[in-house]
Amino acid sequence: MQIRKIKPQHAKELIELSQQNFGDESWTEKQLTDIITDDNYICIALIEDEKMLSYLIAVQSLDDVNIVSIATKEGHKNKGYATKLIKWMIALCQYVEKTLSLEVKSKNITAINLYQNLGFEKVHERKNYYRDGDTALIMFHVTKDSQKA
Ligand SMILES: CC(C)(COP(=O)(O)OP(=O)(O)OC[C@H]1O[C@@H](n2cnc3c(N)ncnc32)[C@H](O)[C@@H]1OP(=O)(O)O)[C@@H](O)C(=O)NCCC(=O)NCCS
Repeated sequence: MQIRKIKPQHAKELIELSQQNFGDESWTEKQLTDIITDDNYICIALIEDEKMLSYLIAVQSLDDVNIVSIATKEGHKNKGYATKLIKWMIALCQYVEKTLSLEVKSKNITAINLYQNLGFEKVHERKNYYRDGDTALIMFHVTKDSQKA
């Protein structure tokens, strides 16, 4: 099992995984295909036997990396795969000295627990942010003093 950069040959699997997890709210095939060739995005996946089990897409700005999509394939959840990808991204952000942020639906308890356990803290809320009226929680990864160099 390896963490690899998502390349155009993985587009089909990425689209399937996104649609399986986000349904109507998934990015379209065109959007995902554009994103994986756009240098502003960091797109990584956990691959085993050439199969994509989990992916993480983040967009980078001058001082921040923002996780914009993360999902794990049905049948492979709760095995620590998303954790591996997020930890990889935390290490990258520490190395390039950028903050790591994300936004999550307030009803997505599974994802919120995962982020909190990995050191993300809520800094802000946007009410009525999503199409279904749910609130967005804006979270940032906080490096504990004991982990700083
Ligand atoms: C949220 C999501 C990406 C998490 O993916 P995942 O690969 O199942 O995540 P992990 O396995 O790393 O972590 C899930 C839980 O399993 C636990 N876990 C980690 N390794 C484990 C292992 N080896 N065995 C059992 N459980 C384990 C984690 O501690 C975590 O528990 P926590 O929620 O109490 O922190 C996944 O549920 C998903 O695809 N959801 C739909 C899309 C979505 O909502 N994305 C987020 C939008 S912001």
